[in-house]
Amino acid sequence: MHKPKNLKTKIFLDGGDPSETRAVLSALGFLDGQTTNPTLIAKNPEAQARLARGEKFSKDEVFDFYRTVVSEISSLIPNGSVSVEVYADASTPSDDMFMQGEDMFSWIPNAHIKYPITAAGLSAANRSIKKGKRVNMTLCFTEAQAAAVYAATAGASRGDVFVSPFIGRLDDRKENGMDLIKNILRMYHAGNGHVEVLTASVRSMEHFMAALAVGSDIITSPASILLEWAKEGTPLPDESFSYEKPDLAPIAYRGTPLTKGADEYDITHELTDKGIARFSEDWNNLIG
Ligand code: E4P
Repeated sequence: MHKPKNLKTKIFLDGGDPSETRAVLSALGFLDGQTTNPTLIAKNPEAQARLARGEKFSKDEVFDFYRTVVSEISSLIPNGSVSVEVYADASTPSDDMFMQGEDMFSWIPNAHIKYPITAAGLSAANRSIKKGKRVNMTLCFTEAQAAAVYAATAGASRGDVFVSPFIGRLDDRKENGMDLIKNILRMYHAGNGHVEVLTASVRSMEHFMAALAVGSDIITSPASILLEWAKEGTPLPDESFSYEKPDLAPIAYRGTPLTKGADEYDITHELTDKGIARFSEDWNNLIG
């Protein structure tokens, strides 16, 4: 199977297990990249088997393990992008995130470093971009957060910066996550296009098709959805495709201006804080 000719959106796998990368590559015939996060790495079968034997990782070993996993993924998709996420809890200083980012970027030739959209994460991203690195700003739940990413990474080339709005986690609390994708794409229309919108936290084929329909630059999906899409012959949404969610509250477009400094936007969101707490907890559970 080949990438559909008129498909403009880049297709990424969301996962921390290289055997899934192999399975999706074999079913789909292509992959434009992969995203990982601490929770997905904690779910890796080898990590799980190790924990089941009662053997936890030391702090150094867990980073070595992450490096081994992303190196394998990177070798499977050498022309794609592989997102590697820094460890961050509520008190991790920006400098610490930046240093982790520097190290992780050297692991593989095609890394995007994931930083959370917090003041510390934005400042680390700003430094990474100035040093010519690539970043993927994660745990995005608002237009203002995406505007702050735009400002913090000003001057970067297209392809070097992704912003990852998490649609499934908004749906979970009965807000229409797909509206956020549309709103950020619309807001970025006024800009220079240096930030690509990466639809994340995709939970269903319907999410996947809707993200294609709205023209998301990138979608990252669990292997199960990509395998289903391959099985169906990689269909694309046509004009008759509609995504109506009367049970989810719409998220209104605010028209946030892209003209402010990164620290002038209100970037707080409960789900960003909760996401950081969950990622750090899953990571710390690997460490003995
Ligand atoms: C990918 O970059 C994200 O970390 C991932 O899609 C989050 O998905 P979840 O909300 O299902 O955990």
